[in-house]
Amino acid sequence: MANNEKIEGHGRIETNNFLMIVLITLVVAVGGLVEIVPLFFQKSTTTPIEGLKPYSALQLAGRDVYVSEGCYNCHSQMIRPFQAETLRYGPYSVAGEFVYDRPFQWGSKRTGPDLHRVGGRYSDEWHRVHLNNPRDVVPESNMPAYAFLGEKSVDADSMPKRMEVLRTLGAPYTDDEIAQSVDAVKGKTQMEAVIAYLQVLGTARSAVRPAAAEAAPAPAAADVTPATEAAAPTAEAAPAVEPAPAAATATNQ
Ligand code: HEC
Repeated sequence: MANNEKIEGHGRIETNNFLMIVLITLVVAVGGLVEIVPLFFQKSTTTPIEGLKPYSALQLAGRDVYVSEGCYNCHSQMIRPFQAETLRYGPYSVAGEFVYDRPFQWGSKRTGPDLHRVGGRYSDEWHRVHLNNPRDVVPESNMPAYAFLGEKSVDADSMPKRMEVLRTLGAPYTDDEIAQSVDAVKGKTQMEAVIAYLQVLGTARSAVRPAAAEAAPAPAAADVTPATEAAAPTAEAAPAVEPAPAAATATNQ
């Protein structure tokens, strides 16, 4: 380009760092707002699905253990709408299931399997054995042992406050539930709490599924949907102590 040639139009932006930065920031900001803001008002993201209840006091305490122990670093709680995922984990996750989750535990890494439909898949006893030492039930597991959770008790006195805060954010707790929360978790270990939490995960959607399936017209044999539904956690109805699928292969799926 000759030195005296005048730079015009888009060339002016491309040759000016400052202008480029300002305009990129503007475009990303506007684009972000256009994508994100409607989500706050969409029915599908703000309305709880049928049958969804806020966590009970014990489940909520367990959820706090889940967060503080960083379980989300290895486990996601979001089943994507792909057949490989629904066959393995059960029905894919929908936004209405997470309305009372603050903050949500979708996670972004799967060193272990997704846990969104783990509720009801195993017995409480299986979870206790597994959390004490995962290798006792899954020999190749690289999940850390959480035996110490069985020795730590839940901080019962803080429960009413936690539930009140969640109520201001939209969880429909009654005054009674809040008043009884201290007694509900008193003397419980963190292990019991985290198991109570795991056992409720993803169950609201599974619970309404059978009725929905009955209401639906008989599907054609070639339809893949029934297979997906049949592979849901409830089909394996809580075996006592059964080895889990090897998760070493699950990395980053
Ligand atoms: C270092 C990564 C890691 C961390 C941290 C971790 N896990 Fe795991 N988890 C795994 C792996 C790998 C598996 C699969 C093997 C097995 O079942 O032990 C697994 C399996 C599980 C399973 C069985 C899932 C299924 O469908 O079979 C549950 C439940 C579980 N973890 C709960 C937890 C909880 C609760 C915590 C936090 C207290 C936690 N995990 C922390 C890696 C991890």
